[in-house]
Amino acid sequence: KRPPATVIFIFGGSGDLNQRKLTPALYNLFIDNWMPEKFAIVGLGRTDYSDDKFRTHLYDGIQEFSRRKSEESWGKFSQSIRYLQMDAGDAAAYHKLTDVVKEYEEQWGGHVNVMFYLAVAPQLVPDIAVKLGGLEFCKDTNFTRIVVEKPFGHDLQSATELNALLNKIFSEDQVYRIDHYLGKETVQNLLALRFANALFEPLWNRNYIDHIQITAAETVGVEDRGGYYEQSGALRDMVQNHILQLLCIIGMEAPVSFEANEIRNKKVDVLNAIRPITKDQVHEVAVRGQYAEGWMQGQKVRAYRSEKNVDPTSTIETFAAVKFYIENWRWQGVPFYVRTGKYLHEKTTSITIEFKQAPHFAFPQEAAETWRPNRLTISIQPDMDIRLRFQAKRPGQSMTLNPVDMKFSYKDAYDHEPEAYETLLLDVMEGNATQFMRADQVEAAWRVVMPIIEAWEARPPVDFPNYAPNSWGPEDAEALIARDGHNWAKVK
Ligand code: BG6
Repeated sequence: KRPPATVIFIFGGSGDLNQRKLTPALYNLFIDNWMPEKFAIVGLGRTDYSDDKFRTHLYDGIQEFSRRKSEESWGKFSQSIRYLQMDAGDAAAYHKLTDVVKEYEEQWGGHVNVMFYLAVAPQLVPDIAVKLGGLEFCKDTNFTRIVVEKPFGHDLQSATELNALLNKIFSEDQVYRIDHYLGKETVQNLLALRFANALFEPLWNRNYIDHIQITAAETVGVEDRGGYYEQSGALRDMVQNHILQLLCIIGMEAPVSFEANEIRNKKVDVLNAIRPITKDQVHEVAVRGQYAEGWMQGQKVRAYRSEKNVDPTSTIETFAAVKFYIENWRWQGVPFYVRTGKYLHEKTTSITIEFKQAPHFAFPQEAAETWRPNRLTISIQPDMDIRLRFQAKRPGQSMTLNPVDMKFSYKDAYDHEPEAYETLLLDVMEGNATQFMRADQVEAAWRVVMPIIEAWEARPPVDFPNYAPNSWGPEDAEALIARDGHNWAKVK
């Protein structure tokens, strides 16, 4: 069933996010017949575009970034795109939005849903929200929705203030806080893996699981986002949101239904159960790093401090590793090690669940040499697969054990998968907030990372830059996990 008639206003319409992600996602939904029968996409921005020029700009984005392209479908789809030049700071201009909505109501006959997508710099969000709040149709809590991109706040206080402001203007049901990781197929599949199988759940606890690792490693640097990244760093950019979301899905209790608040309640429970880190423990459980100059794939790359729009003495981290504990019956005593960084050795987002040893080892001693614990590895990207490592007997006259993998590969099983933004934009049009973050969830995630942020800000690092591009980050990150007798898992 298709979503109801919708007008999509994109603030920051002429910007990068729209060209790379939003319009390609809407276009692919259109090709797959998921767009509403009646829809309009209205780009808003200060750039002086005609409708045609705007469409050409978006068409270039399709050529470069879309999963699929066809002249015919673009021809049809692009008829529903238009551009409205407007300064988002100018309160007097907002009546234009009402006019557009009225125009479609008349044209399509009847009520239309409205989506506002705020693809703008975070500092503009409060002002736009306030101005939207003045429009009569925004008070219609069933039909008007607002989508807010990350970063959602800069720390706990600013996130709380932003939530308070949004909740004063809109009802919580109208606010869609995007974390694009939640739209990834392989992330949604975590729910299927855990809760549609009887096999894993009995083992999914402290009795059988030794520890869990989450790695989100990138082989790119900060690219041209130095200005943004200087206000952020790896902890804010990746851990507070994407990584903690993954941790929530791995750690949550079984939901009773897929209703948005049910899933989100279960996730918030995990965040609230994370053992608070005190400031003086931070150096024991968290490691930060910043890349030096070096080589990536045969190319010389600059140190973070020499990147564009970056302070040459910057203390911002481009790598972070943290050890968390979840204090509840299920996870008592099970460490969750997470790490993320730029310019690391390999691009991978993956989760490793390492099981405990078998309780008794009856095999001859030599059999133990190649023995390894059971491991479930879930590769979110770029390889999309799930592997279960277990012991097998190597053929021959002696009892030699060897770890082997049972593997499920997405690429072998399915011929395509939608992009995260496709899934999430469709969810907004359908009014399904399951894969979006509720206000309390965002605040709980900030609460988890705040002690680390505060401790790091209070004590500038003395050893930056401390890792070479194409490595796995600073040595201290190895030490963090080695102290507990483990290693970071090799994903491949
Ligand atoms: C974004 C971060 O949220 O996620 C980027 O701001 C990061 O710094 C990106 O590169 C990673 O997303 P993905 O989907 O490529 O893993």
